[in-house]
This record gives sequence, C-alpha cells and structure tokens, in this order.
Amino acid sequence: MANIHVDDEITLRWPVMDAADEMFALIAANRTYLARWLPWAPDHTLENERQWIKGRMQVKVGGTCSPSLLIYQGSLVGLTGVTSKDPLNKSCTLGYYLAGAYQGRGIVTRACRGVLSYAFDTLGMHRVQISANPANTRSLAIPRRLGFIYEGTMREVEFLNGRFQDSTSYYMLASEWTRLRSMEGEVKRPIGPTVRQALHDQKRTP
Ligand SMILES: CC(C)(COP(=O)(O)OP(=O)(O)OC[C@H]1O[C@@H](n2cnc3c(N)ncnc32)[C@H](O)[C@@H]1OP(=O)(O)O)[C@@H](O)C(=O)NCCC(=O)NCCS
Repeated sequence: MANIHVDDEITLRWPVMDAADEMFALIAANRTYLARWLPWAPDHTLENERQWIKGRMQVKVGGTCSPSLLIYQGSLVGLTGVTSKDPLNKSCTLGYYLAGAYQGRGIVTRACRGVLSYAFDTLGMHRVQISANPANTRSLAIPRRLGFIYEGTMREVEFLNGRFQDSTSYYMLASEWTRLRSMEGEVKRPIGPTVRQALHDQKRTP
C-alpha cells in the first residue's frame, strides 16, 4: 500500500519496525511537551513503541488505519493519521502529534488534508472526527482551520495529568469534504471563515 504524498515537503509513511528507535527518540526528546496533552506520553517506552507499530502493521492489513509517520523535508517530525475506525458506520478518528520545534509551519494541518483525502476517497469514510482537550488550543485550531464542525464536549472522558478531563469533538462529513474541495479547488489553501460560514449556512438550509 502506498504512502501519502501530501506536498513537496510532507509525506505520510506506513509505520515499520525499523522506525521504532527513531520514533521513540522523537517522543523521548519531546516527552514533557507531549505529556501535557497525551496521557500515554509520560511512561512511553521503546517496547510500547514497538507494540504500537506491530498493532499498526496488523490493522494495515485489515485496512483500518492510514500511513501516519509524518515526514517533513525528509525527517521524521511526528505522527498524523487515522487512529481508530468504525467500519460499520464508516467513521474514523484522526490523531496527531508534532515535535515542538516544528510547530507553526502548518505541517499537521497540511498532513491532515492528505489523511482526509485518504479517509474519504480511499477508505470510503462517511464521517471523520478530531477530538482534543478544550484547553488544547493548538490542537483544536486544526479541525477549525480545516472546516470541521463543532459537535460537542464530552465531560471527564480522559484521565490526563492526574485528573479526568473533558474532550471537545469536531466532525467532517464526506459531503462537506466534497463541497470544500469544489469551493477551494482541491483544498490546497487554508480554509477561511467565508468557507466555514458557507458550510454552516448550507447545514441550516432544509
Ligand atoms: C497539536 C499540534 C500538532 C499543533 O501543532 P501546530 O504546529 O500548531 O499545527 P500545524 O502544524 O497545523 O501548524 C499551524 C500553524 O502554522 C501556521 N501555518 C503556516 N503555514 C500554514 C499552512 N500552509 N497551512 C496552515 N497553517 C499554516 C498556522 O497559522 C499556525 O500557526 P499559529 O498557531 O501561529 O497560528 C502540536 O502542538 C502538538 O503536537 N502538540 C502536542 C501533542 C498534542 O497536543 N496532540 C494533539 C492531541 S489531541
């Protein structure tokens, strides 16, 4: 199965066992920063990383995930991909993390566009979810930037940093993705407020 070529700078690769050391080194070097939002980060070991890759390689065969190793200008800088999938209801969830030094360049937003295309066009998904802690403004800016619609906040669903915390969810439907692409010409440009407003207006029209 092919990797996702997002643009001249970004590729999403399938996880392979040979990448375990490099992925673990990236997590270890960014542990404090990642641990603020990712419950698994504080105690993550190389063996955990190997097990995660093994799991991904198994579900790859079943078509329930996506290429997710985030390669920027030839270097591994994080992860962006389908983290879980509900085949019956044709819905899936996207997840991501990025090495701190690479924030602010639109890398994950651009990568998510590649994953969205893969989720809707290749996996045939009907609905894609992105969720994050309500205080994780950088993370929630991504679905907003992409034109996702806010659907709600679940209370105390995640045990993070010693207490149960809320999770805010945004969704995009296949029809909205198609409409966005037709409005923005393959969704290469950031989606601005005008497009988001048009989507909301469309939803209000019976
Ligand atoms: C969440 C996380 C991935 C967001 O990283 P990010 O760099 O803010 O997101 P992007 O890579 O999409 O970059 C967006 C930024 O690049 C800018 N940008 C530059 N070029 C851009 C482009 N072509 N397209 C979109 N944005 C662009 C945006 O304006 C934005 O900058 P700003 O925050 O100063 O406004 C990162 O903070 C992270 O990994 N955090 C720790 C782990 C985590 O929270 N994971 C998510 C758990 S739910």
